[in-house]
Amino acid sequence: MQNVQNYLSENKDRFLNELIELLKIPSVSADPAFSQDVIDTAESVKLRLQEAGCDVVEIHETAGYPIVYGEKIVNPELPTVLVYGHYDVQPADPIDLWHSPPFDPVIKKTETHPEGAIYARGACDDKGQMYMHVKAMELMVKTNQLPCNVKFMIEGEEEVGSNNLSIYVAENKEKLANDVILISDTGMIANDIPSITTGLRGLSYVEVEVTGPNRDLHSGLYGGAVANPINILSKMIASLHDENNHITIPGFYDKVEDLSKEERTEMAKAPFDLGNYQKALDIDSVYGEKGYTTNERNSIRPTLDVNGIWGGYIGEGAKTVIASKAYAKISMRLVPNQDWKEITELFKTHFEAIAPKGVTVKVKPHHGGQGYVTPIDTVAYQAASKAYETTFGKKPIPQRSGGSIPIVSLFEQELKSKTILMGFGLDSDAIHSPNEHFGVWNYFKGIETIPYFYQYFSEMSKK
Ligand code: BES
Ligand code: MN
Ligand code: MN
Repeated sequence: MQNVQNYLSENKDRFLNELIELLKIPSVSADPAFSQDVIDTAESVKLRLQEAGCDVVEIHETAGYPIVYGEKIVNPELPTVLVYGHYDVQPADPIDLWHSPPFDPVIKKTETHPEGAIYARGACDDKGQMYMHVKAMELMVKTNQLPCNVKFMIEGEEEVGSNNLSIYVAENKEKLANDVILISDTGMIANDIPSITTGLRGLSYVEVEVTGPNRDLHSGLYGGAVANPINILSKMIASLHDENNHITIPGFYDKVEDLSKEERTEMAKAPFDLGNYQKALDIDSVYGEKGYTTNERNSIRPTLDVNGIWGGYIGEGAKTVIASKAYAKISMRLVPNQDWKEITELFKTHFEAIAPKGVTVKVKPHHGGQGYVTPIDTVAYQAASKAYETTFGKKPIPQRSGGSIPIVSLFEQELKSKTILMGFGLDSDAIHSPNEHFGVWNYFKGIETIPYFYQYFSEMSKK
């Protein structure tokens, strides 16, 4: 392909500065205090898509935050790639743990990113990765060599469950018609070990409430004589795993897809260093389901984790009290064939059933979604693989991820197309954590690799 490198090196500073500008807007979808910023970010994405060469760019209002749609149709006869990404970000909390302000991006060199990394909330998840696609398209349009049609659908509610996007997709099937969906919102193994994400886990997220007495009580006067909701909740949660770290909810594993011995052997070939893994997290041992490796536990196996737990007195000093209520937020990561609605029901039935006398339990489902697996025997996967081979000089390893992008399985259901997950982040980039960052090298590598996907996908689709 002509001029990819030239265009990239001539425009590097601008590409970086544009991303930095985008990262300055705190588009936190979970917190209403930032609603105007989220809307402003949608406007800014719209402008950028126009500048980059889209012929049509529209903002679609929803019951929540807007969806930005853009397209560059070169010729209706050519294949069409639908790019999905999200412009919303996770809350920055806990702010105190950031070394620089989360919405004031700075570039710092690190051991993993010797060419520098951009530190800001959303740098990797997903503004940085989404914006690689905007710049890749610009590059192809401005050098007159875009070999396919490109559509963009960039949403602002991914981090809060994409509810309005699912409605939008179901109502706009024709507009969104495509030959493949391309997403950069995942990671890869390492900068010198490229990989393509071939699976995402599903998710069921619930909140539970345990109520004991009708008011908070003196823990001396009543302690020992009534059920303490916090004690009970802790016990109930502890009982959800057995001594092998198997989940005890009846029926939970019924539909879990078991990988063949061959598939597991293949998976085990991916480079993984347990010592480094533990060192990076300052832990002296890993922990998890018996009979599975760390990489299996965090990708092909379902899990149940408490994400937050509260109740009673948590202020300064001590207060002797038995709280009336205790709460927890629980996520279950699911694997192919498990249905998130069914699992949510199983959880609810079980959790209510194990509540002892003396308390009442409420289970409130939050959101969820199905898992997804990308087949690797398709033209799209082969094209992606070849694109990485071209720019990394190495064949990428297919690898299932433990994270979730619930909308992906809905894309397949509604639009009947497969998704290719070309992620350029690293696990150590701290997405959702303080000090999130994205390697400058990774950003440019993404911009460089995506055009080759367009090229190979178009060529290989012809055959
Ligand atoms: N981009 C992530 C998901 C992800 C990250 C998948 C890395 C694979 C590798 C996405 O923004 C995300 O955070 N998803 C949520 C689910 C959503 C319903 C809030 C998640 O996985 O917790
Ligand atoms: Mn994301
Ligand atoms: Mn995220």
